Amino acid sequence: MKKIYLENGVEATAASYHDFPLPEFNDNPFIQTLPPLKSKEEIIKTLHKKPLFSKEEKGYENHYRLIMLQRLFDYFQPLPIHVEVWEMINNLIIEGYLSRNPFDKDYLSYLNNTGKSIINRTFDFSNSVQYQTSSSCGMFIGFSGMGKTTTVNRVLQSLPQIIVHNEYKGSHFNQIQLVWLKLDAPPTSSLKALCLQFFVKVDELLGTNNYKLYVSRNSSVDSMLPMISQLSHNIGLGLLVVDELQNIRSKGAQQILNFFVNLINSGINVALIGTPGSYRLLEEELRIARRFTGSAEINYENMPNNEEFSFLLESIWRYQWIKKETELTKEIIDEFYEQTQGISDLLIKLFIYTQKAAIENGSERITVSLIKRVAKERFKSIKPMLEAIKSGNPFKMNKYEDIMKRQVFEPDVPKTRNYPEKSKGTHNTSSVSTTTDNKSSQANHNNTRETTKKVQGDIRNLTTEDLSKSVYDHLLEINLIDQMDDWK
Ligand SMILES: Nc1ncnc2c1ncn2[C@@H]1O[C@H](COP(=O)(O)OP(=O)(O)O)[C@@H](O)[C@H]1O
Ligand SMILES: [Mg+2]
Repeated sequence: MKKIYLENGVEATAASYHDFPLPEFNDNPFIQTLPPLKSKEEIIKTLHKKPLFSKEEKGYENHYRLIMLQRLFDYFQPLPIHVEVWEMINNLIIEGYLSRNPFDKDYLSYLNNTGKSIINRTFDFSNSVQYQTSSSCGMFIGFSGMGKTTTVNRVLQSLPQIIVHNEYKGSHFNQIQLVWLKLDAPPTSSLKALCLQFFVKVDELLGTNNYKLYVSRNSSVDSMLPMISQLSHNIGLGLLVVDELQNIRSKGAQQILNFFVNLINSGINVALIGTPGSYRLLEEELRIARRFTGSAEINYENMPNNEEFSFLLESIWRYQWIKKETELTKEIIDEFYEQTQGISDLLIKLFIYTQKAAIENGSERITVSLIKRVAKERFKSIKPMLEAIKSGNPFKMNKYEDIMKRQVFEPDVPKTRNYPEKSKGTHNTSSVSTTTDNKSSQANHNNTRETTKKVQGDIRNLTTEDLSKSVYDHLLEINLIDQMDDWK
């Protein structure tokens, strides 16, 4: 692909067109400039990112090795979920462009008309049905630190962002194509701030002046929305990605939902990324939203202590800058699980911090007791959250927006009294950890998925028909409260 530079110095790609095996892709310049679709193996290869590393580096002085350890923050190991995210994002982009072919007469007249009505201030989303776009929305919701942002960035980076068209199949076609735009909602940001960010980012990338021309600090969200939509069409926007969705504060969930639904209805594909705290915004309306958009949704909670978790650990394990290379045993895997509860971010950090400690104390070796000590020091502040995850108790977990259980918000989950059995080893977990403990904690994790589905909402549903047991015993049995005896 040929690189060119826009007037503002930003790098762009000169459009070159290739044929896809799908004829419906081949009369659309927006699609024919996109990279060929990839197989699962190719996706994994593309997403994979290795850190710089060589065994000789083990011989370097401490202060160099300590810096080398930081390279692990750059490492990315694709897992099956990342392939799903890749496919979701790429499908959204292609589907969007399929319904918005710039050589389609109907689409062009729709654009013309909406443009005019925005200028005349007669634009009304509810009436704009002249052209049926089939845009949709993707959602990627997961616990904090599971790598959502990293994954989405890696997927987006694999696509050209700005493409400049000049001529398509012998016709003059002077058009810019912004394949994706990613907005990040900073903590406690408003919907309005998000809209303003849209204009600023587009201007930054394309060297345009829309912000100055069309918006001011006094513009309302309602007035900006049609302009965002029109501008998105004008610049051939393939996908609008909004990360850290849970940070948006608003007068009500309804307002945020309306905002996105209107955007989607105006023909812009949207991908929303956030922690389960996002459900607080969308709650009940989520179901309606899904019906509206036929959206794809990916959920990513913490990993159970399974092959995926050990695979991630195995894949980073070779990057040891300590002198006495430590073998990865089942005991170590279980200890890592115990201390990180399957949160990828913590896994990487614990591996780095433990090596750092081993270099600093001169032992140059990773041991279970060192892992325990490092986790105790480093993860002190998040200990209650980790305990909540470990308990699998959705009511405890919901104290933390980052790890909320989504089922609690799901309005259409059937209520039932069919509770899973209590798994042992959940309440006596504080310091000793053995292989058995971890197994049961995993069993508990799996159970929890079930439990949360069934107990949502009303605590009265929890009481049992078996009157021989007290409510306390029953709540204990289904793992929703702690054993009070432990408090003595
Ligand atoms: N699959 C993975 N391979 C390597 N590192 C990962 C992976 N997933 C997460 N991480 C680590 O977790 C950190 C946090 O990820 P991030 O994308 O910020 O999570 P989220 O957006 O879900 O909160 C990253 O900086 C990276 O070090
Ligand atoms: Mg993130």
